Amino acid sequence: MKPKYKPRGTLLAALDIGSHKIACMIGRVADDDGAVEVLGVGYQASRGIKTGAVIDIEAADNTIRQTVHTAESMAAEAMNGYPLREVIVNVPGNQTKSHIVPIDVQINGQVVTDHDVRRALAKAQEKIIVDGVELLHTIPVKCAIDGNEGIRDPSGMTGEELLVDVHVITGEFGPLQNMASCVERSHLDIASLCSGAYASGLASLVEDEMDLGCTVIEMGGGITSFAIFQGGSMIYSDSIPIGGWHVTNDIARGLTCSNADAERLKTLYGSAMVTGSDENELIDVPQLGELDSAEPNHVPRSLLIGIIQPRLEEILEMVRDKLENSGSDAAASRRVVLTGGASQLPGMRDLAQMVLDKQVRLGRPIRLNGLPDAVSGAAFSTTAGLLTYLTSHSHEMPAEIMAQADSGSFFEKFKYWWKENW
Ligand SMILES: Nc1ncnc2c1ncn2[C@@H]1O[C@H](COP(=O)(O)OP(=O)(O)OP(=O)(O)O)[C@@H](O)[C@H]1O
Ligand SMILES: [Mg+2]
Repeated sequence: MKPKYKPRGTLLAALDIGSHKIACMIGRVADDDGAVEVLGVGYQASRGIKTGAVIDIEAADNTIRQTVHTAESMAAEAMNGYPLREVIVNVPGNQTKSHIVPIDVQINGQVVTDHDVRRALAKAQEKIIVDGVELLHTIPVKCAIDGNEGIRDPSGMTGEELLVDVHVITGEFGPLQNMASCVERSHLDIASLCSGAYASGLASLVEDEMDLGCTVIEMGGGITSFAIFQGGSMIYSDSIPIGGWHVTNDIARGLTCSNADAERLKTLYGSAMVTGSDENELIDVPQLGELDSAEPNHVPRSLLIGIIQPRLEEILEMVRDKLENSGSDAAASRRVVLTGGASQLPGMRDLAQMVLDKQVRLGRPIRLNGLPDAVSGAAFSTTAGLLTYLTSHSHEMPAEIMAQADSGSFFEKFKYWWKENW
C-alpha cells in the first residue's frame, strides 16, 4: 500500500544520538510524494554516550543542545525564528530486538477490512509487549488468505482465515528512558522513535533492493547493526556491540599512541585490507606521553592496516554468523549495502565481499534534497533515514487502540500502536 505522506510544508526534525557523533537534521516536506528538503544540520562529537547508551546525562544533554542549536540557526528563516519543538530519535541496534509473530484472524467468508489487519497487528503486539520493553515498530511482512501466500495488501479480499507474519521490534525501557531524559532536558519532545539500522536502510536502499531482498549493515562507532529488507519491508534486524571505536582502540594499543592520534592515523592512512605497497610506505606515529612531536616513531603502513583488518574481519564474521542464524538470510539474498562512518575505510567493500560472500556496495543517503556535502556521506545514513521515516509513516492511532492507551507518558502512548505500512 502506498505510504501516506505528511502534508507539504510540514517541518520535520531528526536527532541521531550516536556513540561517535550526535547529529540533528531539520527538513520540510517539499511535495505530495514525500520528498524532503533539508533546511538545517548540526553535528558534534558525542559526549556522555557509550555503545549507544547514555552514561552521562549532563554531557549528553549539552552536546544535544549545541547540535540542535546549530541546526536551528541554519533553518531559522524557514522556522520563523521559532525553536524546535519535537524530534524523531534513533534507537541503537543493541537496544532493539526483532520478533516474528505469526497471527491468524478469522474472516469467516467476509471481506478483509483494515480493521482485520489492525486486529492482527494488535494481537502480535499483545504477545510481545511485556514490562520493561517498548514497542518501536509493528510491520506486517507476510500475508496469506486460506493458504494463498504472497499477498501484499489483503484489504478487500475475501476468505475464511487471514494469516499474517508480523515483525515486531521492541526497545529496552531503561536505556530509552535515559535517552528520553536527555532529550527532554533540551526542551524537546520525542515525536517518534526509530531503529537506527531501519533508518539507514530507508535512507540508502533503492526500491528494488528493498523489494528483492537486501541487507543494510550500519557500521557505527560503538555498534554494528544490520537490517534485512524484503518485499518492501524490514523483515529482521540485529546487531553486535563492536564498531569503529574498537578499531581505533586497537590501533592506540598496538602502536602505543593516544586514541586521538589513532583516530587520525586510521582516517588518514587506514585501509581495510593490506596491499603489497603498504610495506614500503612509512607513517609517523606520535609517541604516547612524548611532548616533542618532532620525535615520532616511523612504522610501515602495513603495520597499521595489519591491526585494522583483523578487527574488521571479526566484525563482519560476527555479522555473517548472525545473518546465517537469523532464518532470514535466504530472503536477504546476496546483496549487501554498507553504511555508517566505519564503512568508509578504503577496501571495506572488498573485505565485506570476501567475508560475507555477497555482492556489496557502499551506501549513503539518497532520498533527501539539498543535503549539504558535509553530511551526505555514509556516516549520516541513520540521521537522514529518520527524516525519511518520519515523512512516510503515519502514526495515527485508530480510535479502538487509542481508547486502550494510557494518556500518561510518551512511551505508554506508543505501547499499543505503531502504524507501519498499513
Ligand atoms: N573517513 C573515515 N574512515 C574511516 N573511519 C571513519 C571515517 N569517518 C568516520 N569513521 C569512523 O566511523 C565511526 C563513527 O561512525 P558513525 O558516525 O556512523 O557512528 P555513530 O553513529 O556515532 O555511532 P553508533 O551508531 O555506533 O552509536 C568512528 O569509529 C570513526 O572512526
Ligand atoms: Mg549511528
